[in-house]
Amino acid sequence: MQYKLKLYALTSEVIDGEMQFYARARNFYRDVPATEEGMMGGFSELSDIDIESSREFLRKFAGGPGKAGTDFALDCGSGIGRVSKNVLLPVFSNIELVDMMEPFLEEAQNYLEEEGERVETLYCYSLQDFAPPVRKYDVIWIQWVSGYLTDRDLLEFLIRCKNGLKDNGVIILKDNVARQGCILDPTDSSIIRDIHILRNIIEKSGMSILAEERQPGFPELCIPIWMFAIQ
Ligand SMILES: C[S@@+](CC[C@H](N)C(=O)[O-])C[C@H]1O[C@@H](n2cnc3c(N)ncnc32)[C@H](O)[C@@H]1O
Repeated sequence: MQYKLKLYALTSEVIDGEMQFYARARNFYRDVPATEEGMMGGFSELSDIDIESSREFLRKFAGGPGKAGTDFALDCGSGIGRVSKNVLLPVFSNIELVDMMEPFLEEAQNYLEEEGERVETLYCYSLQDFAPPVRKYDVIWIQWVSGYLTDRDLLEFLIRCKNGLKDNGVIILKDNVARQGCILDPTDSSIIRDIHILRNIIEKSGMSILAEERQPGFPELCIPIWMFAIQ
């Protein structure tokens, strides 16, 4: 199937080749420690604020009449499971993690402590190659990883995630958002999209945005971070 996304500065125009783009990100993460500090790109002092806002945002869409259930969640680009531990495990009976870096998933088994027993599967996959099991999840959480996918791969991944949702299921996408356009960060080989591009990709996936909210409380100098609830 062909997707027409040629509306904005495409990732393909800024990444200098898709294979290189993915290979550089993998190389970058080979040197990143399997710690909260590593997952937060050196800003671990912002982890608590991030978690608090994520919990509040999630409460609006999961657990309660007409909302997503609280049985099963999937943490995409989970790293060691910082989101799983603090946001998902307190709410969901079972969770699963998917990340491309095996050392992070190995560490997740220590980091999640006894609660880790409620992790059904750790999937070591790149998201561009991963298809979530069909109709399995109440919530699919995608945080600080969408920028590692090209537009096309992100769109196709969102479509596969849509198929992974149960009735009333919701995808939460949380990421850095550029003020304008599509910007390459060569340090970790990620791209930062502006909100119009993100909305456009989400809408093209056949889902709609139930809500979007800017992460409050981060220092003014930080790049804005937004949360989207998608269904
Ligand atoms: C900035 S960390 C965020 C980790 C976690 N989501 C959090 O908020 O603590 C980015 C994570 O995305 C993973 N990642 C990057 N590109 C990926 C890809 N193409 N497929 C799967 N995981 C990827 C990295 O291995 C890393 O664990």
